[in-house]
Amino acid sequence: MLIRKPADLRYSDVTPRQLYVNRRRFLAAGSAALGAWTLPTPAKAAGVKIANVVKSNYKVDEKMNSYEDATTYNNYYEFGTDKAEPARNANTLKPSPWQIVVGGLVNKPKTFDLDAIMKLAPLEERVYRHRCVEAWSIVVPWIGYSLANLLKQVDPKSNAKYVAFETLFDRKQMPLWGRAGIELPYVEGLRLDEAMHPLTLLSVGLYGEMLPNQNGAPVRLVVPWKYGFKGIKSIVKITLTDELPPTTWHATNAREYGFYSNVNPTVDHPRWSQGTERRLGELFKRKTLMFNGYTDQVASLYTGLDLKKFY
Ligand code: MTE
Repeated sequence: MLIRKPADLRYSDVTPRQLYVNRRRFLAAGSAALGAWTLPTPAKAAGVKIANVVKSNYKVDEKMNSYEDATTYNNYYEFGTDKAEPARNANTLKPSPWQIVVGGLVNKPKTFDLDAIMKLAPLEERVYRHRCVEAWSIVVPWIGYSLANLLKQVDPKSNAKYVAFETLFDRKQMPLWGRAGIELPYVEGLRLDEAMHPLTLLSVGLYGEMLPNQNGAPVRLVVPWKYGFKGIKSIVKITLTDELPPTTWHATNAREYGFYSNVNPTVDHPRWSQGTERRLGELFKRKTLMFNGYTDQVASLYTGLDLKKFY
């Protein structure tokens, strides 16, 4: 199994949006002068509309980011570690046909194909804050439904305590996999009560459309009170277990990334502050909110837990 630990993993590479945009402009000017190569224009993906999406009350009262923000500044290491790379490279991913195999400590193990996933529960639009551990954030109208809908279908056994998630790993569809610098497949996990919490979203789309590949097509997780890396993309496997599941960033650097990864402005990352964040498109930093602003909904999950120890 591949284990790569470059001396400096890209989480140190906290590139403020403004710098990144300016760097692009600079490169664009350069390439225009040289006439050598063209910059990738952030392609608006296929843009397949999703019908019958109901608005939901899960929405923050903040300005939404643009489609371009959400689809051209991404983390999807399987397709490159630079923020602009997934939008350029993820076209090799084939999001259909697709299956998610759900098993482990359940009474009714089941394999769901994409069609079944799309129809499992009413699709809702939910406008969530999404806070990356790298201290940038974004507000996105996701489409999906509570993961609990899917988990109830497989009937978790009483000794199931955690839910483990796995991303597709296919060297053909992910030809840049060797540059990811993390062990693949990408894996994540939640405690069962976190996974069953209504805010935990199984997402199939954004901005009224199917998920573009760079955002984790065709199905991903969005856990709005946790750092963005818990939002595992392109899920193929879900396993209920009684043991704490391995998670990619914790396995890569346990001191810097914990299992819980709740957004917590009072627990800094060893190399930078988590007290503030830069909303994509804004110049000034804003204060990071406890649980990313979802305290009322989720604080009770952690009663009695030392959140400095269980970061
Ligand atoms: N899932 C996979 N399979 N591979 C990844 O590299 N990156 C994570 C998460 N899910 C990642 C992943 C990180 S670090 C973040 S911040 C979010 O996806 C980014 O989601 P977005 O690109 O839709 O904003």
